Amino acid sequence: METTLRDKHVLLAVTGSIAAYKSVLILRRLVEAGARVTVVMTSSARQFITPLTFQVLSRRPVYTSLFDPSDEIRHLTLAEQVDLILIAPATANIIGKIANGIADDLLTTLVTASRAPMVMAPAMDGDMWNYPVLQRNLSVLDGLGVQIVPPEEGPLASGKEGVGRLASEERILSAVLSRLSRRCDLIGETVLITAGPTREPIDPVRYLTNRSSGKMGYALARAARWRGARVILVSGPTSLAGPANVERVLVQTAEEMRDAVRRYFPETTLLIMAAAVADYRPRFRADQKLKKDTSTLFLELEPTPDILSDLGPERGSRIVAGFAAETEDVLNRARAKLEQKGLDLIVANDVTQEGAGFDLDTNIVTLMDAHGTTTALPKLSKAEVAERILDEIVKLKARSRTDDRIIR
Ligand code: CTP
Repeated sequence: METTLRDKHVLLAVTGSIAAYKSVLILRRLVEAGARVTVVMTSSARQFITPLTFQVLSRRPVYTSLFDPSDEIRHLTLAEQVDLILIAPATANIIGKIANGIADDLLTTLVTASRAPMVMAPAMDGDMWNYPVLQRNLSVLDGLGVQIVPPEEGPLASGKEGVGRLASEERILSAVLSRLSRRCDLIGETVLITAGPTREPIDPVRYLTNRSSGKMGYALARAARWRGARVILVSGPTSLAGPANVERVLVQTAEEMRDAVRRYFPETTLLIMAAAVADYRPRFRADQKLKKDTSTLFLELEPTPDILSDLGPERGSRIVAGFAAETEDVLNRARAKLEQKGLDLIVANDVTQEGAGFDLDTNIVTLMDAHGTTTALPKLSKAEVAERILDEIVKLKARSRTDDRIIR
């Protein structure tokens, strides 16, 4: 990954959170990495810290108002000039405004006018972070390609403990670097990604499913798109918005997912099966809602098609990656799946670990490839995990091309 921001113009937007003082340290890190940084502050940010601090450290004017008589179209000039907009800290208020297209001050007007990539690092109290409307707004932004650097857990300004602390400078810097480095190493690839759970109907109102949220698969789809691939996302039912510029195919059951994968497989060059496919489904689906008229109810289950195994020889030279969500003997089980399913890469995670698994924004995974290499990753956001998985796949692809040449 590129480690410098030389020649990059970053707009650092500071909004009104007690974490605003940390923006000073972020500014220093951006400047040290070589970036030209222009700071924009909202009026609430100025309640916490003065523009002068940022002006001295950035050696550039700090902008705070939309209505500056000396430059009445600053929002447009800045919007065009910057390579990236970083909002850190981002309050619930700014997240809500941007997710809903409100443009009522310099920052929100500038964001509306700019097509530069955006990174947001939210900071707020734990109860605010868990507010469903805020989460919905984040999911809208996520679907539009905004990279969210999730807040961390720890003591909060309110005196409580919880999730809401601004992410570390390292994580914010690394999100900016990865967003700007534009590793277009998947140009020309068609990546097929499956995500989310499947639902296997019992009767018209009930179904069997699992706790997968789809977040990991969606993060992969977004990251692959950013790297230049054409991305087809076959998704089971989730509440997530479809990522920008990704072809999304919505399915319900394992069989529908199998059909969609088979339909797009001929044009696919990389397959990543991140979906938590149900292994069994009710053998019979009742036409009418089942009634509570027996003391015991037996459901007869039959296996669903194994999508990965069924691809068999049709795989050709495509790189195929799978996931193994386990609760015990994780690495051995994952390696066995890698071998049984003939995969190039398996992403193993112990879903019992805190910070790993279903419906979280973080994951703790180990990557295992068919050459015997095992790489354990620390707890990372799902966006970061997605980047690491794609790095590994790009390496495997390069290696398979070299191996092909050696064999010939
Ligand atoms: N998978 C699949 N088709 C299925 C079930 C799983 O293609 N019917 C894929 C998953 O998307 C994942 C990998 O196979 O990439 C491993 O899934 P997992 O459910 O962990 O493994 P199973 O083979 O179903 O084994 P078990 O549930 O017994 O652990």
